[in-house]
Amino acid sequence: MNILFATPECAPWVKTGGLGDVSGALPATLAALGHDVRVLLPAYRGMKVTGEIGDGVELPAWGPWPAAQLVPVKADNGVTLLLLACPGLYQRPGGPYVDASGHDYHDNALRFGLLSRVAAQLGTAHSPLHGWMADVVHANDWPCGLAPLYLAQARSTPLPERTAASVFTIHNLAFQGVFPMGAADLLDVPHHWRTLEGVEFWGQLSMLKAALQFSDAITTVSPTYAREIQTQAHGVGMDGVLRSRSPYLRGILNGIDTKQWNPGIDPLLPHHFDADNLQGKALCKAALQARVGLPAEPKCMLFSLVSRLTQQKGVDLVLATLPRILQAGAQLVVLGQGDPALAQALREAAQKHPKQVAVTLGFDESLAHLIEAGADAFLMPSRFEPCGLNQMYSQAYGTPPIVAPVGGLLDSVTDVSADPAHGTGFIMTGVDPAGLDDAVQRALRAWREPQRWRKIQANGMARHFGWEDSAMQYLEVYERAIARAPLVEK
Ligand code: ADP
Ligand code: GLC
Repeated sequence: MNILFATPECAPWVKTGGLGDVSGALPATLAALGHDVRVLLPAYRGMKVTGEIGDGVELPAWGPWPAAQLVPVKADNGVTLLLLACPGLYQRPGGPYVDASGHDYHDNALRFGLLSRVAAQLGTAHSPLHGWMADVVHANDWPCGLAPLYLAQARSTPLPERTAASVFTIHNLAFQGVFPMGAADLLDVPHHWRTLEGVEFWGQLSMLKAALQFSDAITTVSPTYAREIQTQAHGVGMDGVLRSRSPYLRGILNGIDTKQWNPGIDPLLPHHFDADNLQGKALCKAALQARVGLPAEPKCMLFSLVSRLTQQKGVDLVLATLPRILQAGAQLVVLGQGDPALAQALREAAQKHPKQVAVTLGFDESLAHLIEAGADAFLMPSRFEPCGLNQMYSQAYGTPPIVAPVGGLLDSVTDVSADPAHGTGFIMTGVDPAGLDDAVQRALRAWREPQRWRKIQANGMARHFGWEDSAMQYLEVYERAIARAPLVEK
């Protein structure tokens, strides 16, 4: 099958969160299964892509779209990257979505409209890659949300073109790509689709909604989140649209890249370990404490958090529970970036309790790996969590996670109290300070019983979080989308 995987970020080249990890791993797994997978990604400034670089294909300016170039790069993982080069739009200081001071780029509609447009084009007979046309265009999150609409547009002309099927994955329903309706002209959205049945969302244009309306199939990144987003409580205003498309919606749990995230071989770790020998983990704990400036005290339980600092991730709940963690004589290590108020509160906690709290603000891949390896337990009290990857990394690294009872966290962690024989972590009773405190106290008690703790670690480390099963499910979704068949029998 020819698969075009369109994404705004892809590890290890450009990553702000889990979508980057997924984009780095799922296409590679599909390629290993024998499919021709190409990953379409903007060529941002400072990206160091290694691999065999092919001849660039010119995309002349047309209509509202500026001229661009597609540069194929055969990466080591069997995937061909298609870098969308348009220096005026993508070569800038700052991240993929925001400028260096954290504000959305003013022209994000055009930046990601172009990405979607080119993704769709690769799924038509007018594919710019002569001789290669996608059977499936798999678009991810709102930055690729217009791709399904453009494919539907190509199909709805008087002389319909043969087009790829469109599959859209929701990684986070909270990010909706909303722009003034005036952007519809710029983005070439047909007038009759500027309505409630099309892209209109409270008078504005939503790229996410476009995808939900026009995709042949919709997936999201865990079965529980697939159910949650069809309710008013978790639907972020899109639950009605999602319910109307329910037969075409499925939750597929993310996997993890077991080459990048494996404590036995992780090149970012100073010491390695596995379930049979955890000595390397103790050494990683000492190395972590030294690196972040905490006393290298093996007998202090070390809690951890690696996260975007946002309301979603429940960082405020960690702050609320901190006094109880300190009271127990435990330590907390945090790595994160995002909301300035949360960052400031964390910084103050570290200044006030330098022997027990260490906070690193910024994005640091190697510290993220060392924290997973060196900490004793990982905190993830998310208010909502489509899938979450860190709780899986934690289990693989012998660092039992403490998680909220939501989304993919419920689908990937087994609670120790509910199932003592198979428990891999601690599920909070509620997403509030009391729920987090209860789970933290349970973890503290379990940690003080080394044999019991070993068992919890071993259960987590024995879990299979690889991508193979999920990749097979995506292939089934692709087949059904090509057949325009529903995903679930009603
Ligand atoms: P989300 O995508 O919602 O941020 P996930 O748990 O799916 O949450 O994925 C987050 C990914 O980003 C993980 O690989 C995590 O280690 C990484 N990450 C988050 N914040 C940082 C940071 N400050 N430094 C390094 N890695 C980070
Ligand atoms: C989003 C979600 C996260 C998920 C990731 C990858 O960023 O917040 O839960 O794991 O996408 O799918």
